[in-house]
Amino acid sequence: MSTTAGTRKTADSSIVLQVFRGDTSGGQEQRFEVPSIEGMVVLDAIHYIQANFANDLACRWNCKAAKCGSCSAEINGRPRLMCKTRVDEFVNQEIHVGPMRAFPLIKDLVTDVSWNYEVNKQIPGFTPPPNEPVPYRMLPEDTERVYEYRKCIECFLCQDVCHVLRNHDDKSQYYGPRYMVRIAALEMHPLDTQRRSGLLHGKAGVGMCNITKCCQEVCPEHIKITDNAIIPLKERMATDVYDPVARIARKLRPRRAGAAGSEPQAGVAGATNPQRFAVRDVVRLKTRGRRLARVGSVLPDGKLEVWVLHMNGKVQHWDGPKVVRASDVTNNYGPLDDVGIGAKLVEQYISEDLE
Ligand code: SF4
Ligand code: SF4
Ligand code: FES
Repeated sequence: MSTTAGTRKTADSSIVLQVFRGDTSGGQEQRFEVPSIEGMVVLDAIHYIQANFANDLACRWNCKAAKCGSCSAEINGRPRLMCKTRVDEFVNQEIHVGPMRAFPLIKDLVTDVSWNYEVNKQIPGFTPPPNEPVPYRMLPEDTERVYEYRKCIECFLCQDVCHVLRNHDDKSQYYGPRYMVRIAALEMHPLDTQRRSGLLHGKAGVGMCNITKCCQEVCPEHIKITDNAIIPLKERMATDVYDPVARIARKLRPRRAGAAGSEPQAGVAGATNPQRFAVRDVVRLKTRGRRLARVGSVLPDGKLEVWVLHMNGKVQHWDGPKVVRASDVTNNYGPLDDVGIGAKLVEQYISEDLE
């Protein structure tokens, strides 16, 4: 039996790892025997293998503190961070380490997760009301609520475990739990003025989630993904899209008429501003033909600079800028990205409006 100062390292306290080696052309597990050291995590064992047996073993890591989200892998079939998984959890077991299976393999333990970043770009970002005084003021309980979502380290373990993305490889139908967390962070921000219900119902595909909670179980930041993000977003989307009462209410009082719970605001120079507008909102003008337009800017006197939509089939042309008063607008459908001019969604809103 041999020992090393400060650690327990013995000839018979070694651990066996079966590590996936391969690339897009195929691969298989390779067996490695590594000395076990007290407090060792799987990432340590992988580093030992790199240093002593396989210099070309590819793995991604950065912080070794469970904060960068880089070292995601599947350990004995479960998506986990290698730097947060102790080897002594696996008494008398071989430790199987493989890449995340929901994403295309690059080499060994490294996968191509770039699809996630593309999805991220499609989500309209934080949009405070124009002219909102800074620094922003928020109630402590609102800050608390958003804080949970902001703990996400983008490890994509939740994306990896989600059966919609993993088993069915249906990335065209669902953004996945990580992006439900991001959308929840934005939607529940008290100063955000965007509505993402159309996106959730359409491309983001929140309806694809059947609330199995697998994502919640693997999240290393213990974010209650389904309970606190997906379920509230499903409710919000269902209310906005399917609830007939909400639809009538939307007609009577357009849903962009201010932040949640707020009353119509007095505009600059004492003019009453019946709706709250943000740049890129799609609005309908009262002028002849009741054209759709998008807001280019909100002027200091409360007037809007708009670009008027001309459509020839699905080909769009925006004409402007043209300055209109807020009272010249009959309806505000929300952000352009959300409404998606030319898409089924706007056609639905237009037909609703014409009923
Ligand atoms: S709860 Fe929904 S998002 Fe989470 S893993 Fe299941 S299907 Fe995917
Ligand atoms: S929600 Fe949790 S599991 Fe998903 S990417 Fe963020 S930290 Fe990772
Ligand atoms: S190395 Fe950063 S999370 Fe594991």
